[in-house]
Amino acid sequence: MEIRPCRETNIVQAYFHTPLPNGLLTMDKQIKLGLFGFGCVGQGLYDVLNHSQVLEASVEKICVKDRSKKRKIDSSYFTFDKADILSRDNLDVVVELIDDADEAFKIVSEAMRNGVNVVTANKKMLAENFETLYALQKEHNVALLYEGSAGGSIPIIRNLEEYYDNELLDHVEGILNGSSNYITTLMEFDKMSYADALQAAQDKGFAESDPWLDVGGFDSKFKICLLTIHAFGVILKPDQILNLGINNVTFDDIQFAKQRNKRIKLVAKASKIGDTVQVYVLPRFVDQGTALYNINYEYNAVEVEGAYSDRQTLAGKGAGSYPTGSAVLSDISALTYDYKYAYKKLDKSRSNGRPKLKLDKDFELKLYIRFNNREDLKKLDITSIEEEYRSANLNYVVANVKFNSLFNVYNDRANELFVCVMPD
Ligand SMILES: NC(=O)c1ccc[n+]([C@@H]2O[C@H](COP(=O)([O-])OP(=O)(O)OC[C@H]3O[C@@H](n4cnc5c(N)ncnc54)[C@H](OP(=O)(O)O)[C@@H]3O)[C@@H](O)[C@H]2O)c1
Repeated sequence: MEIRPCRETNIVQAYFHTPLPNGLLTMDKQIKLGLFGFGCVGQGLYDVLNHSQVLEASVEKICVKDRSKKRKIDSSYFTFDKADILSRDNLDVVVELIDDADEAFKIVSEAMRNGVNVVTANKKMLAENFETLYALQKEHNVALLYEGSAGGSIPIIRNLEEYYDNELLDHVEGILNGSSNYITTLMEFDKMSYADALQAAQDKGFAESDPWLDVGGFDSKFKICLLTIHAFGVILKPDQILNLGINNVTFDDIQFAKQRNKRIKLVAKASKIGDTVQVYVLPRFVDQGTALYNINYEYNAVEVEGAYSDRQTLAGKGAGSYPTGSAVLSDISALTYDYKYAYKKLDKSRSNGRPKLKLDKDFELKLYIRFNNREDLKKLDITSIEEEYRSANLNYVVANVKFNSLFNVYNDRANELFVCVMPD
């Protein structure tokens, strides 16, 4: 630390050149970043940083994995050894943007233990390790920011933390996976088959290398996990949350929706009912005239409903190099004014030492279930059937189903049922 007199006031001010033990940064210095990952988001961040008019930040070193890859910037920036970043003592922020959740967790926790603030967009790593990461923030008094991890460019996490901090929220829900939305949009608008639409999403770079994470609803689940923490102060493990995706959707299902002025969207939902929360990811028929109906292609949207604010929707690009890079940039910028998530709802909900809100899995949903083999319906606990249609090409029921029984087909790639929530 260097002590300098302030020109205007002659008051002595302190300028810090290394991160303070408690992770504070000063506004009037160039921020030094250590970056992990130079893929889609890492490169996006690099470009967005270079065009920033306001934020003075320099990327000191970039850690990547593949020695044979050609890079678009000078090779002197790169390292293949994470210690080259983690053991530096002149860094203000570690930015973690790699696609390996286990390795990311090691990097992020080590940086936090070293007293360095971290920005990440890795929803899987965050959702799977949240308790530990929350404890590390408290223990080492450092900030961990992750706006880019849910909804890409949509500023939802800081809004839940700051704007809705005193609001009695009823629910947070949204279209959180751009690939799934892109696929159902192409199937409806361009009459594409599921396989061609998936290929188109992959060609555009929207889908993960293993698209099951997208179309099976896992990506949406990691994101709703994070939103549930910031909306309701409840930490859930991803495997507590049900996710069924759009992987079995067919043109018949799209037509069924269209004939009823609806669209199929993969929706992640967290709602508070009394002293419980219901959280799940399921395809849903959304009605024409609702906000989610007009969120198409790779776009995402998050709806927040509060007791006083009523319903609000934030929409935007949920993924991609620059949209996600801009969310990461915003987090880095927030660190310059010492921003941290306050986790007021989480701390409050735990004030008596244990979570106040419990996860509810004991309720019913009205579902459209399309099947090839009627025997498969036996996997679900159906309490009543409101409609049944059988033909040579299409078989479905509209039925009330015990939610818990949907776990019987969860994470089953061979399952042939297509399940979609009917709106009330
Ligand atoms: N893509 C999006 O639109 C988006 C949106 C929101 C959040 N995210 C999240 O952002 C993160 C990055 O996604 P991405 O799409 O940018 O991934 P990506 O394009 O596949 O790039 C991954 C980068 O991570 C590097 N990497 C992988 N393992 C590493 C390791 N062990 N050590 C150092 N570097 C390693 C790779 O190195 P090489 O270059 O050497 O291969 C590559 O540069 C993920 O957590 C993702 O879920 C992505």
